[in-house]
Amino acid sequence: MTPSVPPFDADSLSRIMLDLRQMKTFVTDPLVIARADGVWYEDVGGKRYLDGISGIFVVTVGHNNRRVIEAMRAQLDQVAFTPPLHATNLPAIQLAEKLGEITPGDLDTVKLMSSGSEATEAAMKMARQYHRQSGHPQKYKVISRYWGYHGATFGALSATGTVRRKFMFEPAMQGFVHVWPPTCYRCPFGLSYPGCGIRCATIVEETIELEGPETVAALILEPIGNTGGVVTPPPEYLPILRDVCDRHEVLLIFDEVITGFGRTGQMFAAQTFETLPDILCMGKGISSGYAPLAAIACRDHVAAAFWGEEEDHVEFADGHTYGGNPVSCAAGLASIAEIQERQLPERARALGSQLLHRLEAVQELGVVGEIRGRGLLIGVEFVKDPATKEQFPADNKLGARIGRRAMEKGLIVRFDPDWIAFAPPLVMTDGEMDLMMDIFTECAREVLVEG
Ligand SMILES: Cc1ncc(COP(=O)(O)O)c(C=O)c1O
Repeated sequence: MTPSVPPFDADSLSRIMLDLRQMKTFVTDPLVIARADGVWYEDVGGKRYLDGISGIFVVTVGHNNRRVIEAMRAQLDQVAFTPPLHATNLPAIQLAEKLGEITPGDLDTVKLMSSGSEATEAAMKMARQYHRQSGHPQKYKVISRYWGYHGATFGALSATGTVRRKFMFEPAMQGFVHVWPPTCYRCPFGLSYPGCGIRCATIVEETIELEGPETVAALILEPIGNTGGVVTPPPEYLPILRDVCDRHEVLLIFDEVITGFGRTGQMFAAQTFETLPDILCMGKGISSGYAPLAAIACRDHVAAAFWGEEEDHVEFADGHTYGGNPVSCAAGLASIAEIQERQLPERARALGSQLLHRLEAVQELGVVGEIRGRGLLIGVEFVKDPATKEQFPADNKLGARIGRRAMEKGLIVRFDPDWIAFAPPLVMTDGEMDLMMDIFTECAREVLVEG
């Protein structure tokens, strides 16, 4: 029997502020979720929604996963909180060990926290402190990319390259430099892959040289960028950046808050693109959303700079009250066990192929400019004319109209005016994938017919 949901007061809804949402609009047609199972949400009115975006790139092992829930319950019976200032706990130790095992190379030293913003923020702080303690105290600048999103806190926002997320808070922090991401479909340099010499990567070296290599601490990027429409690099891009960073003693930070934990068809995009960062940021899928959890893993040469005598004061000067929370760590361990045992990265590849195949029918509608992504992180950019790449007028917002129609029909996808993204839980069945694409194709067709 499903438990009854207590009614909510309509007035109290206007007292909540959701993320980046105009609440005056939201309260006219609110989505209030009561329960979830597998790839399905159910709202308080009993309407079901197929979750085509894993909450928000989070619920990798699906909703209502009993193994994760039981692991958290069992941990609650042991200890629910330990103070990260002067103690740790067994799930935290096991999780750090597990993360060291599943991340590539020697990314074996782990700091646990609660949100993706904390992770990216900590990674950039770690880069600055690392250089201060390794003979390069003037290295402080962080290079990141336009369109990138690294979180809502001030450092993360300063690295973020999406103007609409930050202009109202500017000026941002000093020491942040932005470069163009690999938007090959519309190359900012007017070049075409593969004859372009991967200009978007080689220009990073020139940027470092112009800024002064002795001032540059780190390059942070999402291996596949969500904002901007699932910006996916050519295979050479990240290896070139690795080489550039090595030559200029710049730490390479991967923000894998979205791409981690099987999403791109390997446990991490670092493996998908065969490039080892110096620091890897994790969030979202690390606990599949069952509890707030995030982490950074750093390589041995980075960790070594923080290991010393008490009086040297070289310990990492970063901390959060909920870092390494035992219940969150228990959720993370159980979620990772599910990902490994059910071979979900492989499943992401298979489901991704199925999704790409089903997008062929959408391509026939004549408005698909490019399909991008890896594994089960796929974006579709819409254009007025695929032959010329001519964009729709700004007020057309085809992607948003299709996304809203999908919502009405019980399918949740990530949408923007010009693109749509799919990233369902990796436990989706073939039948659910077919259903998702049936609904989506129908919505795209309907919206186009309406004009
Ligand atoms: C790539 C990336 N990094 C960092 C963050 C920030 O994570 P959080 O919202 O958990 O602070 C996000 C959030 O969407 C993200 O997509």
